[in-house]
Amino acid sequence: MNTAHPMRPSPDERPDPYDTGHVYDGIHEHDNALPRWWLWTFAITVVFAIFYWLAEHSLPSATSSFERYGVAQREYDLNAFSAAVDPQAILVMAKDPAVVDKGKAIYAARCASCHGEKAEGLPANGPNLTDRYWIHGGDIKSIYTTIAGGYPKLGMPEWRLVLEDSEMQALTAFIQSVRNTNLPGKPQQGEPYEGEGI
Ligand code: HEC
Repeated sequence: MNTAHPMRPSPDERPDPYDTGHVYDGIHEHDNALPRWWLWTFAITVVFAIFYWLAEHSLPSATSSFERYGVAQREYDLNAFSAAVDPQAILVMAKDPAVVDKGKAIYAARCASCHGEKAEGLPANGPNLTDRYWIHGGDIKSIYTTIAGGYPKLGMPEWRLVLEDSEMQALTAFIQSVRNTNLPGKPQQGEPYEGEGI
C-alpha cells in the first residue's frame, strides 16, 4: 500500500513486464534478470570449483585433508618426543653397561636385520650407525626421534608403535656407545656430525 503519496501508484500497482503474476500475501513474484556482477561471481565460483576439485582431490599430487592431518599429527608427536628426551640423561645411560646391554639386546632382535649385526649397516638396507655420517641428524634428540618416528616410506619402521619409551632410550644409548667406532660396512650417507651427541 502506498502511504507516501495518494496520487502516485505504488510499485506493486505499476505495470511490470517481469511480474510473473504470482502473488502471495500481497508480494508479487518477479522474474528479474540477475545482476551481472552476481552472474560473473557465480561463473567464477564454478570455474574455481573445477580447478579446486582437480588440485585437491583428483590429481596424483593432491593430498586429502586426512593425509595432511596425519602428517601434521606425526610432526606434532615427533616434536613431543624430541622435547621429552633428555640428551644428558642418554649420555649417562650410554656409559651404564646395564642400559647399553639392554639396548644391544633390543638392537639384535629388532634392528640388526637391516642395520647389520654390529650396526655397521647393510649395503642394500639400513645405514651404518657407527660412522660419523647421519642422514637425519647425529645429535641424540635426532637419533631418538628417528627411532621413534621412523621413515616408513624409506624403509625405516616407526618404532614408537612397537617399543616402549624406555626401550627406545636404551637403543639410543646403545647407538651412542657405538657411534664413531667406524666399523667397515655400508659407505657413508648424509652429513658428517662432529658433536658428542648434544
Ligand atoms: C626394515 C629395515 C629396518 C629396520 C628393521 C630398522 N631400520 Fe633403521 N633405517 C632403515 C633405513 C632404510 C634407514 C634409512 C632411511 C633413509 O634412507 O633415510 C634407517 C635409518 C635409521 C637411522 C638414521 C640413520 C641416519 O643416518 O640418520 C637410525 C638412527 C636407525 N635407522 C635406527 C634403527 C634402530 C634403532 C632400529 C631398531 C629398533 C632400526 N633402525 C630398525 C631400515 C631399518
